[in-house]
Amino acid sequence: MLELSNVSVKYGAFAAIENIDIHVGKGELVVLLGSNGAGKSTTFNAISGLQKPSEGTIAFEGSPIHGVVPDKIVQAGIVQCAEDRKLFPQMTVKENLIMGGYVHRRKRKQVHQSLEEVFELFPILHDKKDDPAGSLSGGQQQMLAIGRAIMSKPKLVLLDEPSIGLAPLIVEQMFDVIQKINKDGTTVLLAEQNAYAALKIADRGYVYESGSIVVKGTADELLSNDTVRKAYIGA
Ligand SMILES: Nc1ncnc2c1ncn2[C@@H]1O[C@H](COP(=O)(O)OP(=O)(O)OP(=O)(O)O)[C@@H](O)[C@H]1O
Ligand SMILES: [Mg+2]
Repeated sequence: MLELSNVSVKYGAFAAIENIDIHVGKGELVVLLGSNGAGKSTTFNAISGLQKPSEGTIAFEGSPIHGVVPDKIVQAGIVQCAEDRKLFPQMTVKENLIMGGYVHRRKRKQVHQSLEEVFELFPILHDKKDDPAGSLSGGQQQMLAIGRAIMSKPKLVLLDEPSIGLAPLIVEQMFDVIQKINKDGTTVLLAEQNAYAALKIADRGYVYESGSIVVKGTADELLSNDTVRKAYIGA
């Protein structure tokens, strides 16, 4: 479904990622692991069209998408949920969600149905639907950001560190919902520093170090890989 071949992205002269090869199959849940600054978000931005690769190709469902503008990439079915959430704090929870359904704005029935689905995944968002997004807790704002991303019914959703800054109990709920979104038919590419929790729900993963992929494999392979365990799981 998604194929990155030999992708490099530069900020000026600095190569943030170099010669990245990633494959995501339809229906998979794939995780990108790596510490701060390893290049996960840069990879996401290359996929969603916010950064242009200096080298390499990115294909989605067989068509090249590198160099395509971000809104065309959303229309093709890829939605990114960014690390900093980018909510509209003065707008209500419901209004934020409806913004996420913007690409389908002419299909009111579908927007309404998507809204119901998001409320089913995150009942707390239904309880707070008329509250300003800015009044929600960190965990609730993260749920809203994910809910808004799936309002457009993407084929592939890019989730950038959804567990960052959340309390352990909320992190667990978050991963449960991500797994459910995947089981309901959305392909998921997840960037995480929380390696153990991410690998427990993932099919496969790639481990980044300073802009390159150093290890890749199935979730079970990575969970039992010594390097991965030492660096990211602490056991
Ligand atoms: N806009 C930018 N201009 C210059 N350098 C940048 C920019 N964005 C990121 N970088 C650098 O590129 C490298 C990769 O950063 P990136 O944000 O992709 O890492 P990351 O794996 O997402 O890290 P984190 O876990 O902290 O989010 C880092 O060295 C970072 O400092
Ligand atoms: Mg990042």
